[in-house]
Amino acid sequence: MSQSPTQLPAWQTLIDHQKSMADVHMRDLFRQDAQRYDKFNVNAAGIALDYSKNRVTEETLKHLIDLAEQAKLPEAIQSMFNGDVLNQSENRSVLHIALRNRSNRPINVGGENVMDTVNATLNKMKTFAARVHSGDFAGSTGKKLRTIVNIGIGGSFLGPKVVSDALTPYWQEGYDLRYIANIDGTDFAETVKDLDYETTLFIVASKSFGTLETLKNAEAAREWFFQQGGKPEEVKNHFVAVSTNIPAATGFGIEEENMFPMWDWVGGRYSLWSAIGLAQMIVLGAETFEALLQGAHNMDEHFRTAPLAENLPVILGMLGIWYQNFFGVESHAVLTYDEYLQDLPNHLQQVDMESNGKRVTRDGGDIDYQTGAIIWGGTGTNGQHAYHQLIHQGTRLIPADYIMPYRSHNPVADHHPWLFANYLGQQQAMLEGKTEAEVVAELTAKGMDEEKAKWLAPHKVIPGNRPCNSITFEKVTPEIVGALIAMYEHKVCVQGIVWDINSFDQWGVELGKVLGNAVYDAIESGNTDAYDSSTAAQIAAFRKANS
Ligand code: F6P
Repeated sequence: MSQSPTQLPAWQTLIDHQKSMADVHMRDLFRQDAQRYDKFNVNAAGIALDYSKNRVTEETLKHLIDLAEQAKLPEAIQSMFNGDVLNQSENRSVLHIALRNRSNRPINVGGENVMDTVNATLNKMKTFAARVHSGDFAGSTGKKLRTIVNIGIGGSFLGPKVVSDALTPYWQEGYDLRYIANIDGTDFAETVKDLDYETTLFIVASKSFGTLETLKNAEAAREWFFQQGGKPEEVKNHFVAVSTNIPAATGFGIEEENMFPMWDWVGGRYSLWSAIGLAQMIVLGAETFEALLQGAHNMDEHFRTAPLAENLPVILGMLGIWYQNFFGVESHAVLTYDEYLQDLPNHLQQVDMESNGKRVTRDGGDIDYQTGAIIWGGTGTNGQHAYHQLIHQGTRLIPADYIMPYRSHNPVADHHPWLFANYLGQQQAMLEGKTEAEVVAELTAKGMDEEKAKWLAPHKVIPGNRPCNSITFEKVTPEIVGALIAMYEHKVCVQGIVWDINSFDQWGVELGKVLGNAVYDAIESGNTDAYDSSTAAQIAAFRKANS
């Protein structure tokens, strides 16, 4: 039987505590306590989280940890790692952690140790990648396969893409990796237009092998392959699949030996660690892929064993709850100060919003508090010249994660210190802001008369007191990328447990798919009787434009 978090004693305490914190400015908290940084930072798996620039005191932290405890977070964490059925609406365990369980600790589901199948699949991936590298698995005309095209969408695209982009410096020489996700034909056409079919390997990555976009793109790829000169009996040299649905992949024409299994205890958005990462394994090599898994495992072990008050994902998750549920915050920005991490916000959108975009409790009861935040963001410094204005002077409070490595893979001139200066400068502005007195003093010092300076000041005042987390590490390495993604996965899990929701199903995305199928039939037939006038008019216009 689940319990609404609002009924927990710590929730009520936090409502009262927020009232005493609402007008406290972080700049004063820093001035009153020279040791503030020492009190609010934590390290795990090579990642340092400095959360001192949050609107919290030690008392706040205590209440937040009390809330986590009262919501039985420690028990839920152990439950997940034990393989219990945490995803009750689909009756499934939640075991992405098994995919990177480098300790090989047995994890049992239905009486079977899933590590056996995890290890066997990893070995199959390694063997396959080695065969592609050596040319033992070659194209139909005997040429080495050099371009890997991953066909997949959602979790079969976003996470894998973050990994391959982030680890660009680790790519094996001579390989190219592309992605086709969208049902928009432009995605397909632009991706294949300069490809040589003889050296191209398509990986159809779909847990269900039933996702419309992926199936249509896989069919288009097979058709393209034939148009280029490939023969039906050569499909096996150029197409492999990753799926739980072996019959559907076989029906597509993929040989059983070219299929890589998935399991229903891995959610799509948590699947980059599985055979869904086959393309990354080929392009990065097994050693790098395993280092990625190791980094995630390091974060898993920290999450599993560290006390709540020193637990990095727990702290991130509870800070999010503090702002969303007690300050009325609605969104959270992820700002990466590293070009290689530019797709991280996209992946985190799926991980967070598909997981925690829920409106009923685990037992199906109504919810009268906010759940999943709107996740958005991008790379610094580009964002500074765009949406940071709203972060600094808009009417909304938007907490942000600033993410940056101390060392760059590309130390061009003095770019990296400048990037770091911007990374810190933005956080300074969020913390300190600029008071009216400071603005007026600055303007009058430049010769403006006081009356005019006072008139102008409100436009230039920056309130500050806008929370941010500093997330740093030495360099963007495979271990760090693994740890970073795992950190966010666990943050989402923490919030889902406290909110008493199921973070591991995604029924909300199904309705659009079903309705889309019916609309497609109406586009084909022209019969729009069942539709509202808006839908019917657009279908008619579409048919006319394409007649
Ligand atoms: O968009 C919903 C979703 O079910 C995601 O959860 C998933 O990652 C994506 O579709 C792709 O699913 P599949 O791997 O089964 O093609």
